[in-house]
Amino acid sequence: TLMEQFTGMDQLEKKLAALFQIERCLIVSGNSDEQEKVIGEFGELIDEALQRQLPDGRNIIAVMGGTTMAEVARHVSPLETNKRHNLFVPARGGIGEAVAIQANSVSALMAANAHGEHRVLYVPEQLSENAYHTLLKEPSIKGVLAMIKEANCVVHSIGRAVHMAARRKMSEDEIIRLKQKNAVAESFGYFFDENGAIVHKVPRIGLSLEDIQKMPIVLAVAGGKSKAKAITAYMKNAPKQTWLITDEAAANEILKGK
Ligand code: G3H
Repeated sequence: TLMEQFTGMDQLEKKLAALFQIERCLIVSGNSDEQEKVIGEFGELIDEALQRQLPDGRNIIAVMGGTTMAEVARHVSPLETNKRHNLFVPARGGIGEAVAIQANSVSALMAANAHGEHRVLYVPEQLSENAYHTLLKEPSIKGVLAMIKEANCVVHSIGRAVHMAARRKMSEDEIIRLKQKNAVAESFGYFFDENGAIVHKVPRIGLSLEDIQKMPIVLAVAGGKSKAKAITAYMKNAPKQTWLITDEAAANEILKGK
């Protein structure tokens, strides 16, 4: 299997998992900043992790968006069996991404490749807080939200704070404030400083960081030398059951001087 091909990485994987105090790290050789195929390999490892970890019965898999997740979704293979049924949902709604990389789209693509089902959370990307709270009272939205809250698995990426803020069209003021608070990482619409402390939250529905702490299966996927700081920051308070799928370039940068 792909996992076995990477046993040369064994030491690096163990070091990184120990540093972050998480269950497992899987490292792909190369640098996803420069080699697109590395992200495809992340996808194959995510597929294997899902095959191995998803129990029989009904699973609800919450997925986040982003360019990494969109590529990962393309590499998911059928996960259905006679005994195992999988429903894919977006982990959070409306955090401000382009359609192709929104959590809704990633979840739909994963479901199609996994031969599972999916539900869409219809929340416009740019919405005032008032409109947002009204929307929360809609029965169709409430229904999907309840499913999201029951998820037993989450797959997500980690981004660089200012890069994500700019891509999601946050205001100049907000970006300045993020910089003042030394935000370096973003995941699930939360921004973190170097110590892993939350310095900003995008007020959106779906999974909260608290929900994720209790979730049985947590798969984080992020690589590239450029994301080393972001990964380190997010991992400071990541759930212990997390599996991190990353690449050699990020791992070496993170472990430099450690
Ligand atoms: O939350 C993190 C972002 O979704 C990461 O986005 O995969 O495009 O770097 P990216």
